[in-house]
Amino acid sequence: MVLLALSLTLIQRRTSEQLNWDAITEMDEHNRPIHTFQVCNVMEPNQNNWLRSNWISRQAAQKVYVELRFTLRDCNSIPWVSGTCKETFNLFYHETDEAHGVKFRPAQYTKIDTIAADESFTQMDLGDRILKLNTEVREVGPINRKGFYLAFQDIGACIALVSVRVYYKKCPFTLRNLASFPDTVPRVDSSSLVEVRGACVDHAEERDTPKLFCGADGDWLVPLGRCVCSVGYEEIDGSCVACRPGFYKAYAGNIKCSKCPPHSFSYGEASAICRCEKGFFRAEKDPPTMACTRPPSRPRNLMFNLNDTCLLLEWSPPSDTGGRRDLTYNVQCKRCGPEPDRCQQCEDELRFLPGPLGLTNATVTVVDFSAHANYTFEIESLNGVSDMSSFPRPVAIITVSTDQGGPSLVGALKKDWASPNSIALSWQQPEQTTLPIIDYEVKYYEKEHELLSYSSTRTKAPSVIVSGLKPATWYVFSVRTRTAAGYSSYSPKYEYETTGDCKYLRQSKVLVCCTAVRPKYRVFFGWCCLCFKGRYGNHIIHSSYWLDYLVSLCRYQCSVEAPKDVRVKFCSHNVHIPYPGIKTYVDPDTYEDPTQAVHEFTKEIDPSRIRIERVIGAGEFGEVCSGRLRTPGKKEIAVAIKTLKGGYVERQRWDFLREASIMGQFDHPNIIRLEGVVTKSRPVMIVVEYMENGSLDSFLRQHDGHFTVIQLVGMLRGIASGMKYLSDMGYVHRDLAARNILVNSNLVCKVSDFGLSRVLEDDPEAAYTTTGGKIPIRWTAPEAISYRKFSSASDAWSYGIVMWEVMSYGERPYWEMSNQDVILSIEEGYRLPAPMGCPVALHQLMLHCWQKERNHRPKFTDIVSFLDKLIRNPSSLLPLVEDIQSLPESPGEEMDYPMFISVGDWLDSIKMSQYKSNFMAAGYNTLDSVARMSIE
Ligand code: ADE
Repeated sequence: MVLLALSLTLIQRRTSEQLNWDAITEMDEHNRPIHTFQVCNVMEPNQNNWLRSNWISRQAAQKVYVELRFTLRDCNSIPWVSGTCKETFNLFYHETDEAHGVKFRPAQYTKIDTIAADESFTQMDLGDRILKLNTEVREVGPINRKGFYLAFQDIGACIALVSVRVYYKKCPFTLRNLASFPDTVPRVDSSSLVEVRGACVDHAEERDTPKLFCGADGDWLVPLGRCVCSVGYEEIDGSCVACRPGFYKAYAGNIKCSKCPPHSFSYGEASAICRCEKGFFRAEKDPPTMACTRPPSRPRNLMFNLNDTCLLLEWSPPSDTGGRRDLTYNVQCKRCGPEPDRCQQCEDELRFLPGPLGLTNATVTVVDFSAHANYTFEIESLNGVSDMSSFPRPVAIITVSTDQGGPSLVGALKKDWASPNSIALSWQQPEQTTLPIIDYEVKYYEKEHELLSYSSTRTKAPSVIVSGLKPATWYVFSVRTRTAAGYSSYSPKYEYETTGDCKYLRQSKVLVCCTAVRPKYRVFFGWCCLCFKGRYGNHIIHSSYWLDYLVSLCRYQCSVEAPKDVRVKFCSHNVHIPYPGIKTYVDPDTYEDPTQAVHEFTKEIDPSRIRIERVIGAGEFGEVCSGRLRTPGKKEIAVAIKTLKGGYVERQRWDFLREASIMGQFDHPNIIRLEGVVTKSRPVMIVVEYMENGSLDSFLRQHDGHFTVIQLVGMLRGIASGMKYLSDMGYVHRDLAARNILVNSNLVCKVSDFGLSRVLEDDPEAAYTTTGGKIPIRWTAPEAISYRKFSSASDAWSYGIVMWEVMSYGERPYWEMSNQDVILSIEEGYRLPAPMGCPVALHQLMLHCWQKERNHRPKFTDIVSFLDKLIRNPSSLLPLVEDIQSLPESPGEEMDYPMFISVGDWLDSIKMSQYKSNFMAAGYNTLDSVARMSIE
């Protein structure tokens, strides 16, 4: 916040018969002169003494602050003045465009406030020369004219006005993310922000439009977008500085200048690219980050294998590839007669397989050659910069006489059988072999990962079982023969697939997978999958008999002792059984007949037991009413009744009743309780317990500032406990928000609004995402927005937002920012700041819930125990974020955190012990350094 003081000269006015204010210079307790305006007509009744300022230009401000410093005499310390002596005075203002010549007319002035003293002085204080100075600040505005006057009305007090400061707040010029933002005056309305676009600093360019929002208190909020240093420049301390000689930066971005890659250099400053040394080159498509390279050396170990029809040439890659990977080979051929100097080119008369040029493997097969001839082959290696060099290309040379005979090729390969991990192959032996076959070499690799999965095996028989393969994977095979004369060339390639793990997978509807945990070590040891034919459809699987059956199959399949924690996966649905005896949520949508789910999880209520009293709201399907429910042998209770309005189709009836089928499975003090449903008569109704205070967001807005921090934490604890129950049941809420929490007369908060997709249809906050889903953006975790990864961890994110809503008494998360800006700012690491009056410990917990990596967020069980600790130790809630932020940053001056003695204790308490060393390494070794930590 930048304060702008305006000068103020007081002009005194005499009105009617009243005595005036006097300009008096006094000495303060340190014997320094102070200029004051005083009035002290406490003996006479009906005082009306005015003092007016000069005209004050409002400049850019719409709202100004007036700070008054004054002393005021205690009336009790003056004898005989009761009834005439006053202990307050009034502050007024008058807006006008004219700076001069405005006559003082009290009736034109608007009252700002009556000002009272916190401390008044007595005769004794005067004797002791104690100056009891009061400071009061008042807001004035909105001011629409060019300027204004201030006026002070005395009505019989004994006052000395020591100083008046008039100022306004502005967000000061700042540099953020390589963009500059000008001085900006906030809006008068404290809940709306001014959006300011930044300008990139020199040698920087825009990435996403840089924006900041100026808040009412003159603080910059929510940095969005950024600029990045241009090519040849890097960021140093907030500006873009040229790369030094020997360094370069080829791309605009948030990266540093890099040293020139090997075999390159830069002489000047701000280089975008480094030039290659002599003899080294950069190919057209080489990136500037790549080293300069040179042509390769010659191929090595050139050999041949010859049989009746084929000549196989094989060699090893060159010892120097020139620093590149795009190595290829060209073959040239010469045929020489009896005189070696009578040679002629022969590429055209032979056939090369796969070809004579651009070979990527160090081998080529030559066919259609003549018998009794001498061929000379030259193999040259090339790479992407060979054409740039003017040196002759080095070659490897071999001469082959076709008089010799070599081993023959095998016949066609055949797959005999395949399993998930093996394939059995056989082939025909070569028909004519001059020499006996020593063995066969079988070469194979995964079709999709040729280079990573090359393998070979040998066999003496013309068949092989290749094992150790992956299930449901295509492999490529070829075979060659070995005799005393060497190898034949490889057979053509044959492709075969291993079988999948689940034999019935294709024709089945249900794939059941189990994970089990060893009871002693609780170690996750993997999935085992069983495949069932379609007849074990989803609906059957809900019976505990089938679950037991699956668990025992899983046990058998995975060879473990009795598994304690078993997850059974039905196609895409997860059914989670945490421990035997604890119930698991069953998704009613997995029932083929939804009526069956309603029947199983809800109680039918006879409508004659319900008395509807009042309409209290409107839901998506019909009215919501309050009323009473009678149950024989029990006390009548208050209930809320949701009704389904007439004219619905079957799909709507099911969408309406789905919520009841879900709610009916829960039984927890912080989950709204289902009393029952009416489905057998009209209207169809869902009857739940009545919550006197309605939804939490509106309740908090109506009672802004009314609760103690402990009461608010108590509410949050209740919500967390309800969410822990839901996550233990394997239920993901997806729409946790204060509007979906109900509050009863004892301030007990209960989670409500169940029904998966339907809740989002119903929720006015839910907006369509680019992928077509309807999502309440401000409450939803980034992974759920981007790719619909909803989980208890995404519910934990929403819980953090609910905490923020509660601590700010129902403020809208991210205020009036657009959904798109919310998504962007979260992506850039911005998180909601602590609401006013929010304890550090609670804001830390919120930030913990808003971690990008969902596995790093706290579990609901951690949240409940953390809040329990805070409630047991109320002093841990005393440090407020604003107290800490306003502390001077002086080393050695540490805050008092009663609950956590050390950073280590705190991390232990929030189940983040694994980060202790990271915190220490980063220098966060005191709790107040942690409290000052920014989100980056
Ligand atoms: N509005 C919606 N459900 C309610 C309930 N159970 N109690 C009070 N108001 C409600």
